[in-house]
Amino acid sequence: MGEIDRALEGLARRIGAGATVTVLTGAGVSAASGVPTFRGADGLWRQHRAEDLATPDAFARNPQLVWAWYAWRRERIAACQPNRTHQVLAAWKARDHTLSVVTQNVDGLHERAGLADLVRLHGSIWHLRCWASCPTSPVRWRDDRVPLPEIPPHCPHCHGLARPDVVWFGEPLDPAVLDAASRAAASDIFVSAGTSSLVYPAASFLPVARARGAYTVEVNIDDTPASDTVDLVLRERAEVVFDRLEQLLGAR
Ligand code: OAD
Repeated sequence: MGEIDRALEGLARRIGAGATVTVLTGAGVSAASGVPTFRGADGLWRQHRAEDLATPDAFARNPQLVWAWYAWRRERIAACQPNRTHQVLAAWKARDHTLSVVTQNVDGLHERAGLADLVRLHGSIWHLRCWASCPTSPVRWRDDRVPLPEIPPHCPHCHGLARPDVVWFGEPLDPAVLDAASRAAASDIFVSAGTSSLVYPAASFLPVARARGAYTVEVNIDDTPASDTVDLVLRERAEVVFDRLEQLLGAR
């Protein structure tokens, strides 16, 4: 039996003993589905400067360019399917409501696997909102048409520009979402999966959980700034780890 299998058996025993669990996911959990990560070898931030595409200033300067990039990502994601990590987390949540899932991903793959109840820290690429926050439009609306009929899309209420309902660099997170994530971080076990642990405040939940006494776990194929701080490092692909964990939990 490998080292990872032994570690996973220990983790499954802790979970089986009734511990509450929070899983924080990042782009790495969607990598097996074919969604590009941000900082990997072919990562989005290797090819583009974030400040040209993912800031309010960039949108104000060139909404056409920013929307062309989001439209490309929407098309790419629409062609992807949820993988084993998404499926396992959805199945786990369906039988155990004490599991909390907090994601930094905007791709909607957790939801497509059937996980409805999750905290989306960075919004959703499948939702739009009015750039001018006009008083007659809803806060956000869903539009999963691929391709979008017009680039840039417009607010159906004031006919001004619409923007993707995602968090851009320099923008604060929705306080209600932050609150929900902080509550989720008060679990007995905190698992950080497929994230580089570089973007805040998302990266702060693991140290907060640890300070509150949680047993902390990192699932990542590479080292991150969090690796040295956690109780258990699982240096393996998320889809392999969650598949194995589900076999162990399901076998109980
Ligand atoms: P990153 O691209 O920064 O990090 C992805 C992480 O996943 C890396 O640490 C990889 O080693 C790891 N990884 C890749 N494939 C994996 C696999 N199969 N299993 C496990 N780990 C794997 O993505 P995030 O940490 O999610 O923000 O990035 C955080 C935020 O930065 C994003 O939400 C986005 C970006 O700018 C916004 O859009 C606001």
